[in-house]
Amino acid sequence: MTEAELYSVHKGVYVPTHLNPPESLKYCEEFTFRQEDILIVTFPKSGTTWMQEIVPLIVSEGDMTPVLTVPNWDRVPWLEEHRAMLLSLEQRPSPRVFATHFHHRMMNESYFKMKPRVLYVMRNPKDVFTSSYHYYGMASYLVNPGTQDEFMEKFLHGNIMFGSWFDHVKGWLNAEEKASILYIFYEEMIADLKGSVEKIGQFLGKSLKPDVTEKIADHCVFKNMKQNKMSNFSLVPEEFMNQKKSEFLRKGIAGDWKNLFTEAQEKRFDAVYEDKMKDVTFKFPWD
Ligand code: A3P
Repeated sequence: MTEAELYSVHKGVYVPTHLNPPESLKYCEEFTFRQEDILIVTFPKSGTTWMQEIVPLIVSEGDMTPVLTVPNWDRVPWLEEHRAMLLSLEQRPSPRVFATHFHHRMMNESYFKMKPRVLYVMRNPKDVFTSSYHYYGMASYLVNPGTQDEFMEKFLHGNIMFGSWFDHVKGWLNAEEKASILYIFYEEMIADLKGSVEKIGQFLGKSLKPDVTEKIADHCVFKNMKQNKMSNFSLVPEEFMNQKKSEFLRKGIAGDWKNLFTEAQEKRFDAVYEDKMKDVTFKFPWD
């Protein structure tokens, strides 16, 4: 199926209509934030699911109940997805934890007024591309990626769900409300998960005991988290996500793009990256 059949355009970017129907986008636009809310913001395939595991465990100070009994999409719902409307989020006690793939400029009025805490997770865009390429091939609500070259042009031009990775990252890096945002990298979480749990805990005002930090990091390491059926998307029907083609928790490493890109694709990607990121002074771990 085509973009016209599977996607809608919301505030200038493609969103998958099946997950983000107009009534959900309206709900999200009218949503009232609280200052104590915690918002996980990502471009898709940058580590959203990982954070949906880590943050509730920090909030619960290591109590495993939420992550072992509630699917990630209800535990930390995406505000723009259709489930959000069904979960009585207004009645949840603080701190509520949400996720969104929205660009900074797509956030609603209440967000800019309340300035909830944001965890903005970034990942090497070449790995985001690689993870997306496999994911678009297995998720029926997304347009089939076609060849790697075809998908790369779509990725580089922002003709995929949630638009351009470059615009997403630049928009959130330029946010004025920096005091309420923690910028964190997938790569630093891979390199030092325990340190990352501590860092996120500190940002959220939780001083975790060392054994609790250890327990959280141990549960959230890829091979362990992959076993959690509340987080590995095994509860999703096969016709929606065919994990026989590619698992949702696929490899969980940094640098897998090296196994996928041809030399020509690497050059093409680098040229566009250099051009689009030329005015960005922020230092990324992959530069
Ligand atoms: P790969 O496809 O490269 O394996 P998102 O949740 O934003 O859709 O991102 C999905 C990517 O995050 C997938 O990348 C997935 O394997 C990875 N991921 C999820 N949980 C992880 C974990 N505990 N450790 C490392 N990577 C994880």
